[in-house]
Amino acid sequence: MAIQWFPGHMHLTRQAIAERIKEIDVVIELLDARLPGSSANPMLADLTAGRPALKVLNKQDLADPVRTGHWLAHYNAQPATRAIGLDATASAPAQRLIKACHELAPTRGNLVKPMRVLICGIPNVGKSTLINTMTSKRAAKTGDEAGITKAEQRIVLADGFYLYDTPGMLWPRIIVAKSGYNLAASGAVGRNAFDDEEVALELLDYLKHHYAAPVEVRFRLEAIAAMKDEEILDAIGRKRGALLGKGKVNLQKAAEIAIHEFRSGNLGRITLETPEEFALWLAAGKVLDAERQVKKDAIELDRAIRFKKIPRPDRRGGD
Ligand code: G4P
Repeated sequence: MAIQWFPGHMHLTRQAIAERIKEIDVVIELLDARLPGSSANPMLADLTAGRPALKVLNKQDLADPVRTGHWLAHYNAQPATRAIGLDATASAPAQRLIKACHELAPTRGNLVKPMRVLICGIPNVGKSTLINTMTSKRAAKTGDEAGITKAEQRIVLADGFYLYDTPGMLWPRIIVAKSGYNLAASGAVGRNAFDDEEVALELLDYLKHHYAAPVEVRFRLEAIAAMKDEEILDAIGRKRGALLGKGKVNLQKAAEIAIHEFRSGNLGRITLETPEEFALWLAAGKVLDAERQVKKDAIELDRAIRFKKIPRPDRRGGD
């Protein structure tokens, strides 16, 4: 799936993070608990390497609790990293986040040595909701201060506790194809960037193998594991009356229904990837990406030779 989504403001955000990171004590990365691997920004890993990291698996109320446990254990095993699950709409758990920051940077958090926390996440992951619940009207947004760029905002959470907020950021291209589908299914990607039917078919394919029962209950279907993805989508359209006439199903409408039911949590608590699955997808994606790069380099070299008149390497060997 070809998805392009790197508008100019994302370059600005990237620059702002690169600049700010030098004086940051803890990086909070907000992840979508339904797709933790796919919602982690690989560019952020490069930008923030070496900083204590707090991974927040947000929207855990929508995610499979057993799988959330696996992901938390996966992240907590990484050096200088802590992970917590959160429902950003509930205010009390957000305080856990402040506590976790103190644990990651115990010498910070007073007026002499304030705690400086950078919060990042992909669009729609719940960053604004979390900040709103954490600040509960006490916070002062101080985005116009000197030294604060337009691509960030400083929020004073408490005396000696500063939160630097950055706009939601996706990365320039997807290496893991499955991540593209999962991000689209979750609502992180604008509607114009993907095809609903394609995303719904991928989603149903995963669900029929891992969450068949709740899908069957919700759409009143039977034995979907034995059905083709297209048949499931067709059946969903029929059950929900998404018809075009002459008995044909409106597949676009059926796809929108399937995606909406997943996003809203009506299918139950679902997580679209495990740490093991994601590691396999990533490894395969990296191989494909390397192959793609080799082809691209060859095309570019050929173009340079033809248009910039770089001498073609002599294949006859030395005379
Ligand atoms: P962003 O700043 O990262 O872009 O995301 P934002 O806070 O705007 O949240 C995006 C959507 O996710 C909102 O729903 C918000 O209510 C929802 N959300 C955020 N955190 C959680 C959570 O922990 N659990 C659940 N279930 N939902 C969460 P929306 O439909 O776009 O808006 P609204 O109608 O709910 O306000």
